[in-house]
Amino acid sequence: MAEKLYIFDTTLRDGEQVPGCQLNTTEKIEVALLLDQLGVDVIEAGFPVSSPGDFNSVLEISKAVTRPSICALTRAVKKDIDVAAESLRLAKRGRIHTGIGVSPQHIFNKLRSTPEKIIASAVEAVRHARNLVGEVEFYAEDAGRADNEFLARVVEAVIDAGATVVNIPDTTGYCFPEEYAAKIRYLVENVPNMDRAILATHCHNDLGMATANTLAGVLAGARQAEVTINGIGERAGNTSLEEIVMALRTHPAYGVDTEIDARLITKASHLVSSLMNMPVQPNKAIVGRNAFAHSSGIHQDGVLKQRDTYEIIDPQDVGINESSIALTARSGRAALAHRLELLGYKLEKEELDATYEKFLDLADRKKEIHDYDLLYLVGDLERIQNQTIKLKFLSVTTGTLQPTATATLVLKFGDRERMATASGNGPLDAAIKAVKSLINETVVLQEFLMQAMTKGSDDVGRVHTQVKCGDNLAHGYSANTDTVRAGVESFLDALRCLGVTEKPDKD
Ligand code: KIV
Ligand code: ZN
Repeated sequence: MAEKLYIFDTTLRDGEQVPGCQLNTTEKIEVALLLDQLGVDVIEAGFPVSSPGDFNSVLEISKAVTRPSICALTRAVKKDIDVAAESLRLAKRGRIHTGIGVSPQHIFNKLRSTPEKIIASAVEAVRHARNLVGEVEFYAEDAGRADNEFLARVVEAVIDAGATVVNIPDTTGYCFPEEYAAKIRYLVENVPNMDRAILATHCHNDLGMATANTLAGVLAGARQAEVTINGIGERAGNTSLEEIVMALRTHPAYGVDTEIDARLITKASHLVSSLMNMPVQPNKAIVGRNAFAHSSGIHQDGVLKQRDTYEIIDPQDVGINESSIALTARSGRAALAHRLELLGYKLEKEELDATYEKFLDLADRKKEIHDYDLLYLVGDLERIQNQTIKLKFLSVTTGTLQPTATATLVLKFGDRERMATASGNGPLDAAIKAVKSLINETVVLQEFLMQAMTKGSDDVGRVHTQVKCGDNLAHGYSANTDTVRAGVESFLDALRCLGVTEKPDKD
């Protein structure tokens, strides 16, 4: 039986303090409820003394979420701890996470203190917190750059004072995995009362080693990992929950596992990314758009024969229905035949060879081949006619009154033109609603990612969309100086891939 690794999620604290990622209380509760379903052990819900909003969020999350411990961050300052305890008063399992800097940089430069005074403040903070809540965790800030002997003295003192979890943050993301593992091992071997507390990892990603350092720390004896969904967090971010969970699950021989329901990982990633307006890089491990997409012909052939040839994780295990075979100039016949079969075409060898030649010719000119391109290649003109949705006209008005915007547009379905008007929370919302009113399927815009190419208000906006229709998922892309138009075109691009057709006219 595997030993349990406790998952402490700090998406709503370390993740949320990133500029632009701020959530309101309702949104934080939505994330906390999903973290609860995911099975995390601790939710760090905020830093209550920092603002009334953070205080309120910790209070409301404590009411709404009762299974995991709800944690509030403080400095080693009496007022912080009192405010945190007050915000946790309704929590079924409340935890105060208090701490102080322990590296030379923090002790002498930031705090202008001495090692002895640091230990005294740490002990005082833990004792005070212990009188107010059931669980006290201590963080030794910048432990990554701290002297191990001094760190061991701090850890021993705070455990004596009542801390049951001691967090060893690599605050600046400085350590190498072996160095971080050695630090944890040193504490396990040299702190006399270490058996009375759990050691926690909290690694930042400044050198891209957060996950490696966390795993090294766990293999050296840490039993709590502090993580965020999508790895969001200060600067280059924190260790990502999904990477730790799946790394341990793909390596059961290490004998450590979490109680996370990994099938909810993709859902959690999408929720956090969309609420925090924080796009996930396409090649991000586990949750990136391309994490299960195969584009080279050799890889596609291998995956179609047997999934694990090129996939170490079954996409379904993290909540994705199927690995995606992206058709590009590097795809082989097997991938083309597979996609054609999904579209209902079973070609004989000679027909397939001929279609493959045409496919390569087209793929050399286009980045990715979509289903409607394939219909063109196999000559299904009637289906192409129905699937070719184009934007002919778009006009939006926007302002400060509710609803804030109205959009009127004309779409061409083949050679038929249809017009629609809709209003929404903004010009794009209005335009997407207008498009939806003209199509025959229920589609869900799952991801909308807009990026400026350079800087300036006249810049070209690039828009990536991810749209779901039943079990099918498609990606759309467009770029335009008019960002609303780019958004609508990108949405239409995805609709074309999905083969969405026109809603029948009422008359
Ligand atoms: O990175 C860090 O040191 C922290 C502490 C506040 C736990 O986030
Ligand atoms: Zn941190």
